[in-house]
Amino acid sequence: MKNTPIIRFVTLSKKHTASTTRRYQSTLQAAATSSEAPCYDVISPAVTSRIEEYTQREQTSASLQTLMKTGRGEYLGKAYPQSQAFMGRMGQRLATQRILLQDAAFLREEIPIRLAHRILDLDRVPMMRDMPSVIAVKNVYANSFMEMTNFPKIQSIYEEEAFAAMLESLYSKHANVLVQMARGAYELRDAVRQGHIQGSEGSDHGLEFEHMDQCHKFLDRFYLSRIGIRVLVGQYLALRSEPVDGFVGMINIHTSPSDVVRQAANDAVLMCNRSYGRAPHVEIIGRLDLTFPYIPAYLRYVLLELLKNALRATAETHADVHTLPTVTVIIADGTENEDVVIKISDEGGGIARSQIDKIWSYLFTTADPKIQEAFIGEKDHSNQSPIAGFGYGLPISRSYCRYFGGDLHVVSMEGYGTDAFLYLKRLGDIVEPIPV
Ligand SMILES: Nc1ncnc2c1ncn2[C@@H]1O[C@H](COP(=O)(O)OP(=O)(O)OP(=O)(O)O)[C@@H](O)[C@H]1O
Ligand SMILES: [Mg+2]
Repeated sequence: MKNTPIIRFVTLSKKHTASTTRRYQSTLQAAATSSEAPCYDVISPAVTSRIEEYTQREQTSASLQTLMKTGRGEYLGKAYPQSQAFMGRMGQRLATQRILLQDAAFLREEIPIRLAHRILDLDRVPMMRDMPSVIAVKNVYANSFMEMTNFPKIQSIYEEEAFAAMLESLYSKHANVLVQMARGAYELRDAVRQGHIQGSEGSDHGLEFEHMDQCHKFLDRFYLSRIGIRVLVGQYLALRSEPVDGFVGMINIHTSPSDVVRQAANDAVLMCNRSYGRAPHVEIIGRLDLTFPYIPAYLRYVLLELLKNALRATAETHADVHTLPTVTVIIADGTENEDVVIKISDEGGGIARSQIDKIWSYLFTTADPKIQEAFIGEKDHSNQSPIAGFGYGLPISRSYCRYFGGDLHVVSMEGYGTDAFLYLKRLGDIVEPIPV
């Protein structure tokens, strides 16, 4: 990577700079008196230098265990016994104000540091940084960064409440970022295809997006960081809402992989039926009784992606066969094991060895290209998501697994089928890998 000066995007005329700075100052004042978020569509020098300052600060990693302990108030020097931790209104207890104040103070410091690192990365990534959708994402990040850093120190429950409202709106503003970045990758691929961009820097493979190593590493960093931010914010917001039995925020202390597989399988079968008029049976075997602490929503996301792939491959490969071969999910664990391992086996014909590296690419898909064309042209944001279409399922799922200290491997037997191995850390004691 070239050592370019940071935040290259500030190229404002003097007049523009002066007016932007004025606007920035007045919005700063407004932010101090109002909870309305200011909107920065141009990144001023003042904002730039603040971002630079935050990139010098170190990011702090958390682990599932840290999140659980924070949620139970153990870092306040006051450990709640498990049975009491969920007591309170209607037999359950809202997380105490002290826990929320502590968490909010941490996030107020931590989130802007993480956002600043990403803004810098968005500004430096070769080729992708010039794509309109990537620039739009950078602006979303810069706006959120300013909103967060303008927020006064949180000392009272009223300030904590205002902070939570701000984070909630930030959380939903960022919901579309994944789609926006995906569009940025498509824009780059199109620009390369049309010859607007000459070659991928440092690649031997010519102009294929699948081989643009720097872009893929950048996207891995970007999504990993996004997962981290959303977990921290999601956990804090979940602690503020009505407690659910057995949960600390988003973490279910007794997550049952077999339950989650069943829910994901139901969704995948539905989608498969919609696309192909039928679906293979999904059999779940192994440690059906097993439970461990995890965030079930994320596990369900990953399992759905893997099951969609397995069901699609089975339905397409055996289109002429009367009965589709069963997809098998095996859950393994022993009390001494480091990991809970889940294997999803299909007989969907496998993947050619020459293609196996590409499956981790953010644009590699064998799905109907019409789906992607509609996506990039914004023609279709239909309410029904397709069973396959963007090439995002596997790389994003692997990022989720790695974020929580696990991993995802895909082993294929061309002409027969595919095994996907999902490794989940049992103890949740691995700290998040935060990209710098
Ligand atoms: N179990 C499988 N059997 C055969 N091929 C597979 C399997 N899983 C993945 N693949 C191949 O890898 C490609 C990439 O998979 P990935 O899940 O990342 O994207 P996708 O399914 O094409 O789109 P989506 O973003 O909707 O998941 C698929 O298009 C398919 O060609
Ligand atoms: Mg998929």
